Amino acid sequence: MKKILELIEERKQKFAELPLFQFMQDKSIDPQQRLAWVPCVVPLVMGFGELNRYDLRREPTEDKIQQLINRHTYHDDHHWIWFLEDLEKLGFDHCITFSDAMRFFWGDATRKSRQICHQIALYSFKAEPIVVLAGIEAIEATGNAAFQQISEVVEELQQITQQEYRYFGRHHLQVETGHSMGTDEIETVLEAFDLSPEQHQQAIEIVEMVFQVFTDAMNEAMDYAKMQSIEHPFTTTRLGKTPAMIA
Ligand SMILES: [Fe+2]
Repeated sequence: MKKILELIEERKQKFAELPLFQFMQDKSIDPQQRLAWVPCVVPLVMGFGELNRYDLRREPTEDKIQQLINRHTYHDDHHWIWFLEDLEKLGFDHCITFSDAMRFFWGDATRKSRQICHQIALYSFKAEPIVVLAGIEAIEATGNAAFQQISEVVEELQQITQQEYRYFGRHHLQVETGHSMGTDEIETVLEAFDLSPEQHQQAIEIVEMVFQVFTDAMNEAMDYAKMQSIEHPFTTTRLGKTPAMIA
């Protein structure tokens, strides 16, 4: 599995350089504006709890790797609670009708974000636990890379608002070490695991897929942030009232 972990590290470095993260480092832009993309990741964050609970968790099991996965899912299935708190603190709780919210969350601005949990569930369905675990390691790597950079912007905002942001701030980063089960020790266990040629190939596929879907969603969020004004978020155009809106 060592080669798979090396691949994940390589992809993680590239992922950390995406335009959205460069945008967030631009201190000439108001920190709140640099977080204008946050509504785009609602389908990802809210879906992630369910992905862990209903797709990745398989109980009961005698399989040792699946037991590790199950433990991990309990660690990762409730972080959306912190996310909802942050949405409120970041000022996204302003007037939006329920039907407009549905248009936004099923519209074009969040299409890639919606694909993440969907694709991971599809790839994990019937995959061997060790392959799923490789996918989880890739997910954790994207999370760690993203939260390291997001928490820096949030710290700037914290200086201004004196609010604590549990999802996007240090709190979340501290529990997301970048590895499954929240521990670096898992890396030693995984490194020593011998994959069959089929498992190796499937692990590569799931890792590449994870980085691709997260990259697509980060680029989608970047496009959204460029068109957003923090004074007037969820504008009519961005709500998806366009011909491309899903019927
Ligand atoms: Fe999390």
